Amino acid sequence: MLQRRSKVALQAFNLTKLQRQAAPPPTHPLPGLYKQPPLVALSSSLTHSFPLPNRLAVTSAFFRPQAHPHHMAGASAQPAWAQALAAVGLLIASRAATCLALWLYAAFLRPAKPLRRRYGAWAVVTGATDGIGRALAFELASAGLGLVLVGRSPDKLAAVASEIRTRSSSSSRPAEVRTFVIDFDDADGLAASVDALGESIRGLDVGVLVNNAGRCYPYARYFHEVSEELTRSLIRINVEAVTRVTHAVLQGMVERKRGAVVNIGSGAATILPSDPLYAVYAATKAYVDQFSRSLYVEYKNKGIDVQCQAPMYVATKMASIRKPSLFAPSPEDYARAAVRYIGYEPRCTPYWAHSLVWFLFSVLPESVADRYVLNMSLGIRHKGMAKDARKKAQ
Ligand SMILES: NC(=O)c1ccc[n+]([C@@H]2O[C@H](COP(=O)([O-])OP(=O)(O)OC[C@H]3O[C@@H](n4cnc5c(N)ncnc54)[C@H](OP(=O)(O)O)[C@@H]3O)[C@@H](O)[C@H]2O)c1
Repeated sequence: MLQRRSKVALQAFNLTKLQRQAAPPPTHPLPGLYKQPPLVALSSSLTHSFPLPNRLAVTSAFFRPQAHPHHMAGASAQPAWAQALAAVGLLIASRAATCLALWLYAAFLRPAKPLRRRYGAWAVVTGATDGIGRALAFELASAGLGLVLVGRSPDKLAAVASEIRTRSSSSSRPAEVRTFVIDFDDADGLAASVDALGESIRGLDVGVLVNNAGRCYPYARYFHEVSEELTRSLIRINVEAVTRVTHAVLQGMVERKRGAVVNIGSGAATILPSDPLYAVYAATKAYVDQFSRSLYVEYKNKGIDVQCQAPMYVATKMASIRKPSLFAPSPEDYARAAVRYIGYEPRCTPYWAHSLVWFLFSVLPESVADRYVLNMSLGIRHKGMAKDARKKAQ
């Protein structure tokens, strides 16, 4: 009897042991998050939010070496590497979707900063007599700012000033406009002229500075064909003047603890991997890009937002484009987008179609982009030389 009882007890013990071995591990209130390291938790929570075909839940042995063998056998319908690949793909896709949503918001929905209230009552715009600078001056006047227009041609400055005054005369706050004449290409007088500009704005609540004046090649050419005069001029206008004017205006912004500096760079340096046949121009704009980016970090906690805007083609006399198109907007369309970006990203392409070009160049292999841009520049050089030849023949 005693022997029978101990046999039954032994059988019962063995049964319980077998059941315990066959039973799944204790479950967690959130399925898939059982004893997981953070990366796995993130991946599997993503997988739960976005169910994948074949239930590629990222609970594999690859990520969870200590997982229970029974649990692993049930969940690993796919090999570990496939599940890992799916997780990485999912993360990349969610990142791309987030970037797209943020870009759509910034390009079309995000409101402009209240420039006058946030930064100050006046804007200084260089190269305000034509193209992008002129259009920006009108746009900033519409935003309620007084203007200091800086340019090399007194007549053109007077004409733009008078047009802005006339256009804003019916608004609730007619624009105050001042002008200042500087030739940024004047090697001997540049330092003194910029000092004088600094003096003339002393006491003005200058909130926004737009360094827009710039020079490019007359048309594309090889570096050995670029004259010393053109090289010096490009460096003086695109580099030295931008640096000096920023230095002169920033002083007051630091004292007032607020301001926005917008430097007009170029896609030639910021978007394209290279700009063959425009090497010196692109290099001066690379200076503008890195100068701005570094100042952005230096002055961020002093209340001053420094930004480099990098447009691609805009239909102006510099680009020799008369008719605006989708990818070469009018200066007015560019300026509308540009003002809405002031004070946000330190490096940006405000016009939406230019951002598409930036994206395309970012995914193209560099060698393909290089060849495409070189062919374009060779075409421009060919046309320019033919035009020069016709002029000579006349
Ligand atoms: N257009 C494009 O496709 C494009 C693309 C990328 C970047 N950008 C950049 O955008 C900025 C504006 O270009 P934009 O296309 O509007 O050119 P733009 O139509 O030729 O206008 C240039 C402005 O700068 C002034 N300027 C030129 N040289 C000067 C000097 N030595 N001293 C004082 N002012 C001077 C011009 O004065 P005047 O009226 O007296 O000539 C004009 O007001 C430049 O920095 C350029 O590099 C343009």
